Amino acid sequence: MAASTEHQVLRTELRWAVFVGAVVALIMGAILFAAMSMHINPPSNIERVDPKTLHLSGEFTEANLGTQVDPKGQITTRVVATQFAFVPACVVVPANRPVTMRFVSPDVIHGILVTGTNVNTMVVPGYVAQVHATFTRTGDLLMPCHEFCGFGHSQMLARVRVVRPEAFRPGPDGRVSCAG
Ligand code: CUA
Repeated sequence: MAASTEHQVLRTELRWAVFVGAVVALIMGAILFAAMSMHINPPSNIERVDPKTLHLSGEFTEANLGTQVDPKGQITTRVVATQFAFVPACVVVPANRPVTMRFVSPDVIHGILVTGTNVNTMVVPGYVAQVHATFTRTGDLLMPCHEFCGFGHSQMLARVRVVRPEAFRPGPDGRVSCAG
């Protein structure tokens, strides 16, 4: 009697082990499918950047920051998060168009979120944090730093200015700024 009960317990355990294994495999499969076929990746991706030289050359020099539309129409914003400011402190994006937001930090870990949206990522020195977003409502959205980064953390704030698509007019160089 005792032996048969033990046997039954073992069988139940094995059945659950197979079931749980199948669920884990299904979830891993869904993550891999989303990453490979739909390019849905964590925002802190494996793209590296040297935090000591990012202001000197390459994509994140001062002249390249802010919003830029490339010849194919792809909209990218580039922002440096640094103690204790965002550069630039305001970026313009059009409503209802996909935007790629790229962030780097030259000093410590910062974090950003755009209020009223699901845009939210850490900005870790040494890596490019990238978020894809489509903003649906126009207006100025606050983008505070949400990772304690030092004594000026609470003053670290930027804005995302979402404008109507007609009002989004890039210059000849494809650039748009809040001042323009
Ligand atoms: Cu940057 Cu808190």
